[in-house]
Amino acid sequence: MQSLHDPDAKRALRRQLRRKRSALSRDEQRQAALDLCLNLKHLPEIQRARRISLYLPVNGEIDPTPLLSWFQKRNVAVYLPVLRPLSDNSLWFVAYHARTPMVKNRFGILEPDTRFAAQRRNRLPAWALDTLIVPLVGFDGHANRMGMGGGFYDRSLAFMRRGGPAPNLIGVAHACQQVEALPVEPWDVPLSAVVSDEAVVRASKKKS
Ligand SMILES: Nc1ncnc2c1ncn2[C@@H]1O[C@H](COP(=O)(O)OP(=O)(O)OP(=O)(O)O)[C@@H](O)[C@H]1O
Ligand SMILES: [Mg+2]
Repeated sequence: MQSLHDPDAKRALRRQLRRKRSALSRDEQRQAALDLCLNLKHLPEIQRARRISLYLPVNGEIDPTPLLSWFQKRNVAVYLPVLRPLSDNSLWFVAYHARTPMVKNRFGILEPDTRFAAQRRNRLPAWALDTLIVPLVGFDGHANRMGMGGGFYDRSLAFMRRGGPAPNLIGVAHACQQVEALPVEPWDVPLSAVVSDEAVVRASKKKS
C-alpha cells in the first residue's frame, strides 16, 4: 500500500481537497463563513486574544473575515500574514484595518504593503501574537493539518517545537476538508484545534 507520506500521495490528496472546496457555490461559501465564525466566537483562545491573525481567503478557502467587525468592537488587534522579504520563506504578521494599503505578493495573495513605514512599524513575529487563525487544505480527527505545501506556517512557527510561551494555533476549514488520517511530518507544528462550519476538533492534550 502507498504510504501517506509519499510525496505523490500528498500531492494527489491536496489536489483532491482543493478541488472539493473550490466546487462550493457562492451561497455555500457565505453560509459556511457565517457558521465558522459562530463556532470560532465560542472558543476561549479566540475570546481571550488581544492580538490575533487571520487571512484573506483564496482558492475556495473558508472565509474568516466576518469576524473582523466583531474583533473591532472588542478592540482586538488583527494581523495578516506577510511573506518576509529577503528571508527564508517565513511570515511576518502586519496590523490590518479597513484603510491598510494592500499589495499582491508573488502568489497573487493580497497582503499589507510593507513599503509603507506605518505597516513596517506594525509588524510582529508569530510569537508576539496570542492566537493565529491558520488556513489549511486538509485536517483529520486529531486536528493534524495539511497546508498548501510551502511550509510557510511550519517555518514561521518552528520556534514552538522548542517549548516555552507560544501562541494558540486554530486551523479553520470547510467540513468537507476532513479526511480519515493525515501524515504527520517531523516539521509539522501541531494545532490546538481545527474549527469548521460544522464542528470543533480538538487536538489531544500533550503529555507534560
Ligand atoms: N522549520 C522548517 N525549516 C525548514 N524547512 C521547513 C520547515 N518546516 C517545513 N519545511 C519545509 O517545507 C516543506 C513543506 O512542508 P509541508 O508539506 O508540511 O507544508 P504545509 O504545512 O502544507 O505548508 P504551510 O505551512 O505553508 O501551510 C517541506 O518540504 C519542508 O522541508
Ligand atoms: Mg506542514
